[in-house]
Amino acid sequence: PANRLQVEGSSSLWRADCRAKGGSPGFKVAILGAAGGIGQPLAMLMKMNPLVSVLHLYDVANTPGVTADISHMDTGAVVRGFLGQNQLEDALTGMDLVIIPAGVPRKPGMTRDDLFNINAGIVRTLCEGIAKCCPKAIVNLISNPVNSTVPIAAEVFKKAGTYDPRRLLGVTMLDVVRANTFVAEVLGLDPREVDVPVVGGHAGVTILPLLSQVKPACSFTQEETEYLTSRIQNGGTEVVEQMFKKEFQQMSQAYAAVKFADACLRGLRGDAGVVECAFVSSQVTELPFFASRVRLGRHGVEEIYPLGPLNEYERVGLEKAKKELAGSIEKGVSFVRK
Ligand code: NAI
Repeated sequence: PANRLQVEGSSSLWRADCRAKGGSPGFKVAILGAAGGIGQPLAMLMKMNPLVSVLHLYDVANTPGVTADISHMDTGAVVRGFLGQNQLEDALTGMDLVIIPAGVPRKPGMTRDDLFNINAGIVRTLCEGIAKCCPKAIVNLISNPVNSTVPIAAEVFKKAGTYDPRRLLGVTMLDVVRANTFVAEVLGLDPREVDVPVVGGHAGVTILPLLSQVKPACSFTQEETEYLTSRIQNGGTEVVEQMFKKEFQQMSQAYAAVKFADACLRGLRGDAGVVECAFVSSQVTELPFFASRVRLGRHGVEEIYPLGPLNEYERVGLEKAKKELAGSIEKGVSFVRK
């Protein structure tokens, strides 16, 4: 252009365009709920991710400030902000990955299920937008209760005729992140060397760490098993209780969400062997949704791994988890069908 200053954001748009044409990795990512406690640090970390070429930040409040701030970071991704329902479609059009941390969080004394009444409606509206504007996008659902919001999203997509179970993933990564950390503490190892599969769902007893399958191979006493299982299941509550009366950012969740989103983007790029735990449409148990280890690829979930051999403690935990999960899934499904 004759006057480069007159074309708003021209250099950023040029950068995004070049990357798209050059075929180098550069994915378009939207965060819905980007101005919240998880959304803000999540936006910052996604802006630092070299696999992201365009980052759309959508919220019903405060996105202009967050967008202005994040857009000043000198990393590659072009940042655009979107405020309010009228701008939802623009925020979603053309996206490869949509991450949803929109909704209300827990207060002390609340369970994730107490959030259902508000967050179910929010997730439904956002997913209707996805079905219309970017039906092929991978969706990472963070809004709680994940055990119900994922079935809600699936029903919305089914109604719209766009449902592809491979592309809808409930984010349980924080349970794995916590499990790796707490197990590493007990074993006296670096958490980066530890891999704990966490299956089931993302609330209380539905969070089932498989301590018998920890890598590197190790064993735990009954006391350690009970301590670790309880701490992993109640890790979220531990944080919520400490945050009483204060607005906090949710750093560990943002970290976990970015770790998971990055795995999805590496899968989309075609990397081999990208395996993480997620809450997905599944035949691993008799339930229609279940969290377990999945391999991520160009279409989202390419393969779901079986649970592997469980010990007696885990078998009992699994039965408890399934009982609660069945109710949470049914609640989500009937919210949309009713
Ligand atoms: P927050 O209240 O700080 O932020 C939520 C954001 O969502 C706010 O900026 C709000 O304006 C926005 N929002 C509300 N309605 C919206 C709508 N209709 N469209 C777009 N944005 C909307 O809450 P926080 O701490 O960020 O938590 C967000 C959600 O994530 C909660 O449901 C929480 O329970 C869940 N969560 C999930 C975890 C997981 O591991 N899956 C871990 C921690 C929290």
